Amino acid sequence: MRNLILFAFLALLMTSCADKSGSNKKQADEEKVILPDVVTFNEHIAPIIFENCTPCHRPHSAGPFPFTTYDEIKAKAKTISKVTQSRFMPPWPADPTYTNFKGERILTVTEIAMIKKWVEDDCPVGDVAKIPAVPHYPEGSQIGTPDLVINFPDFTLEGNNKDHFFLVKVPFEIPEDKYVKTIEFIPGNKKLAHHMNANLIEYQPGKKKTVFNGKKIIPTNLAESADVVQTEMDNKNDDGTYPVLVPLVCNYLPGVSPAMYPEGIGGFRMTKQGTFFINDFHFGPTPKDAIDTSSHFNIFFDDKPPVRPTYEILLGSLGVAPVTPALVIPPNEVKTFTIDYQVQETMSLLTVNPHMHLLGKSFLAYAVTPQSDTIPLIRINKWDFRWQYFYTFKSVVVIPGGSRIHVEAVFDNTVNNVNNPYYPPQVIIDRGDRFDSMKTTNEMLQLILTYMEYQSGDEYLSLE
Ligand code: HEC
Repeated sequence: MRNLILFAFLALLMTSCADKSGSNKKQADEEKVILPDVVTFNEHIAPIIFENCTPCHRPHSAGPFPFTTYDEIKAKAKTISKVTQSRFMPPWPADPTYTNFKGERILTVTEIAMIKKWVEDDCPVGDVAKIPAVPHYPEGSQIGTPDLVINFPDFTLEGNNKDHFFLVKVPFEIPEDKYVKTIEFIPGNKKLAHHMNANLIEYQPGKKKTVFNGKKIIPTNLAESADVVQTEMDNKNDDGTYPVLVPLVCNYLPGVSPAMYPEGIGGFRMTKQGTFFINDFHFGPTPKDAIDTSSHFNIFFDDKPPVRPTYEILLGSLGVAPVTPALVIPPNEVKTFTIDYQVQETMSLLTVNPHMHLLGKSFLAYAVTPQSDTIPLIRINKWDFRWQYFYTFKSVVVIPGGSRIHVEAVFDNTVNNVNNPYYPPQVIIDRGDRFDSMKTTNEMLQLILTYMEYQSGDEYLSLE
């Protein structure tokens, strides 16, 4: 079970999506590049693309075009060469020379050089016997057959070339309380769905007659306050008190796999009656009216309660440690803000998730122990608001009690920031007291940590 945090506070929480995906991968850089005389598709290029690109670049996935055959890949060869050299693709903002994470998608210098040479040599096909199998992606789930499927309401997306943000209620009733190992989100409109963060509202016996009343969808920009939203969605207990909310039980971003920690770590309880409160669901802009009628959760049960429960702590905007100075970014300035948090009990850290919006420029987080040792957590040299993964460490990072966690983030509110939503730049503030703090044109600075209570031996606990 995750940390049970009071509802009203969490109702305002906006974070971005998770990446707990993928394979265990190599280090970047500092390699001697030795290329074969002839670089061929079947022997050299297909393995790189299938492993690092095809998970997103395949039908019904996040990438704008598929990379599953020679023809598809050759048709984009020049662009592939360009975006791999610039490291725009595969998207992985965290600096691998600072810390490494599970499922890291980073090409080596050799792989990038190999792609470049292959394209310059006009894309030789090579020995057909050497092509690896195109990875198999099961329809409908990356994990297996779910124990339970819960559907979202239908969405109508106006073709106005603007982003759409929704607060969503997804209620359910099941025959009895269950333990959940993980939840996988499957977007209906995979082209437009961008991110989704789900919290779980649990009702204690006798507290709620029915969970199915109330508004199912409220556009985020029309939300007046957390309290009004919870009233309109009929999410409170029948006596008007707030039920318990389990934060962030499922997060989605293009290219992610659902949260999967090793056996015994994580998981939570699902009460008989409950509601997923989505805060929020973001669809990208579309020039034509569009719909989403089939977004759903795949739920995977566990027969045992979690052995090692995980907890989440949110630092910065809306969280337990303030941003210093207050997050006000004057126009035409590049400005640095910090967060400092004193760790009480020793933490076994699993995952870090940095969050900023469009003015973010760089992000750094580390811990300093009482003995003044530094424990690096994450460094993002070039912030990209499109890729805000939940980065899971390869093995548990132990932060001793009494340590200080320090975050240092730089925001660029000048015309040099191509993502600046305003021209000329305007003063941008963190409006953490209101729902519209999560609008991308406002700013936030957060670091979310997922951790367990420390047990001896956690230092050696692999998360892969
Ligand atoms: C996490 C998912 C993901 C992975 C992994 C990924 N891509 Fe992409 N790719 C995208 C998305 C989404 C876009 C559209 C981005 C945008 O328009 O901002 C994109 C865009 C592109 C583009 C078009 C860029 C342009 O300027 O038009 C190319 C080419 C590309 N990817 C190649 C690759 C290659 C090559 C790899 C592997 C080395 C890769 N991608 C890995 C999601 C991914």
